[in-house]
Amino acid sequence: MAVILGIESSCDETAASVCRDGWILSNVIASQKVHELYGGVVPELASRAHLESIVPVVELALQKAELPLEEVDAFAFTQAPGLIGALLVGTEFSKSLSLAMGKPLIAVHHMQAHVLANTIQIWGKDTPIPSFPFLCLTVSGGHTQIVLCKDFLTMKVIGQTLDDAAGEAFDKTAKILGLPYPGGPLIDRYAKDGNPLRFKFPEPRIEGLDFSFSGLKTSIHYFIRDETEKNPNFIQENLPDICASIQHRIVSILLIKLKLAADSTGIKDICIAGGVSANSTLRNAFRELGETEGWNTFIPEFQYCTDNAAMIAITGYYKYLEGQFESLSVTPQARAPF
Ligand code: KG4
Ligand code: ZN
Repeated sequence: MAVILGIESSCDETAASVCRDGWILSNVIASQKVHELYGGVVPELASRAHLESIVPVVELALQKAELPLEEVDAFAFTQAPGLIGALLVGTEFSKSLSLAMGKPLIAVHHMQAHVLANTIQIWGKDTPIPSFPFLCLTVSGGHTQIVLCKDFLTMKVIGQTLDDAAGEAFDKTAKILGLPYPGGPLIDRYAKDGNPLRFKFPEPRIEGLDFSFSGLKTSIHYFIRDETEKNPNFIQENLPDICASIQHRIVSILLIKLKLAADSTGIKDICIAGGVSANSTLRNAFRELGETEGWNTFIPEFQYCTDNAAMIAITGYYKYLEGQFESLSVTPQARAPF
């Protein structure tokens, strides 16, 4: 019997979750609204907001799990990658809990946790999970990776973006369209009423399993500039079609490489993860491609796609089983390989 408290504070979400024997009992997320005013995450404001939210968020996670702090067997936290000041809050808070309660401390890699969100099981629900080895396309605000997962804690990045992440491609193009941060979910929403084939944006020519999104961003920038010179109301009059066309291109870039990875490895269990896996077109196109290719496809529940602590708690649980603990001298890292 093992109860793990997971804490996530790598960017602009303060989150806590309790996992017992691999089952998620609670998943609490406080999203920081303060950044909307600035069109992106302001690191200093993120750290302050984490400081304000971390105690109530952890208390609520324990309350929802109906467990007292004394029953927690280990404290898992996001150690890397992320904003250093934001990571510091979760790291030091977890260290304090570990010291005060005399229970082990577990450091979790945020991107590894996104992948393992696909293995989360919910009490009372029959949730299919992938078998090893599996591939995961991890698409978030800061990363775009194809990960080969050999077992819970053995992963290898076999393809990644050379410049912007897929989430950045969504957010930066949304900004060009005058939409507030984060623009990804808004592009998704407007695209629902649009024609994805109305405007054609270029496909990058990148070798192998790597990605590039900066050329797409530049071409959208020039396209919008030229069209609004001709018609100042171009964006307002065509927003759904513009969003649908941008989304169509981003999704096709992602899935072309995912198919290449599946073909070259012969792996049939394929997952997606990270904030962009909440995108409705990506989810549908991924399922459809999976059916055509004979893959077993997996997508985490919506609440486990964007940043959350359930993925930290479940990864913490696998590390707990392996006895992978940290000393109190552990420090957060803004960047770190798996
Ligand atoms: O994984 P995540 O919550 O945080 C990071 O670790 O970065 O991912 C955040 C990213 C943002 O870029 C956001 O715009 C994007 O995920 N995102 C979406 C959608 N929901 C979140 N992008 C497109 N469509 C969505 N529905
Ligand atoms: Zn994330």
